[in-house]
Amino acid sequence: MSVLKAQALSKVYSSKGNVSYKALEDIDLTVEAGEFVGVMGPSGSGKTTLLNLLSTIDKPTSGTIEINGVNPIKLTNNKLALFRRRELGFVFQDFNLLDTLSIKENIILPLVMDGMPPKSIEQKLAPIAELLQIAAILDKRTYEVSGGQKQRAAIARAIIHQPALVLADELTGNLDSKSAKDAMDSLKEMNERFKATVLMVTHDPFSASYCERIVFIKDGRFFSEIRRGSNRQAFFQQILDALSVLGGNFDDVPFARA
Ligand SMILES: Nc1ncnc2c1ncn2[C@@H]1O[C@H](COP(=O)(O)OP(=O)(O)OP(=O)(O)O)[C@@H](O)[C@H]1O
Ligand SMILES: [Mg+2]
Repeated sequence: MSVLKAQALSKVYSSKGNVSYKALEDIDLTVEAGEFVGVMGPSGSGKTTLLNLLSTIDKPTSGTIEINGVNPIKLTNNKLALFRRRELGFVFQDFNLLDTLSIKENIILPLVMDGMPPKSIEQKLAPIAELLQIAAILDKRTYEVSGGQKQRAAIARAIIHQPALVLADELTGNLDSKSAKDAMDSLKEMNERFKATVLMVTHDPFSASYCERIVFIKDGRFFSEIRRGSNRQAFFQQILDALSVLGGNFDDVPFARA
């Protein structure tokens, strides 16, 4: 079953002076239930634009999106907010945790907002916190924990309500390499144990090597796609090769890290 089906997606930004810019053109993307898919492309290639369309934050100029059988573009604002809260989970580069809440309160927020009884919330939280190794810091505030712990808390928040699709934009962008590895191990574990379906945008070939499949875009268009075999090390090399064919600006990428 496909969780996400995007067809012929295009996005034109029109700004002041009526100068318009085609950021995405004719993108088709299907993600099956349980898949872990990466999107890579040079800076400015349209990755965030694509994620904003899929996360229903922005609307496509043309094309269709279906998430879990629903076309979010057709929903009213109220229904869209509910749809987003129930069917989607988000992980951002800068964590987006609320500083006034504890780590636990941050994680369970989507369940609290949905009116779930506290006992059921505890039952959902416990195994996830255990797996992500954040059980000991649940009562801490965001400023009392490390960046890596914050991101693992953000991953917990993104999957605790068992959304149809988890969307991540550069989730390792603000992490050192050890924390980045921990975050990717965590996300992979959520994908395998909780069958979370993940679509992740990244610049980083090391993070991307955790995916099963990577879609490359360039200048807003589909460029190529590669699939992982059994070995992550070999996939990392495949990704580097694909990036060199793709060209563009990857100068900031730490290339020797797998
Ligand atoms: N709100 C906007 N209005 C006008 N142009 C925009 C807007 N957002 C993005 N763009 C342009 O669309 C193109 C794609 O931007 P996008 O942010 O999707 O790229 P990206 O692949 O995420 O890049 P990066 O790797 O640097 O994050 C860029 O040329 C950008 O300048
Ligand atoms: Mg971006």
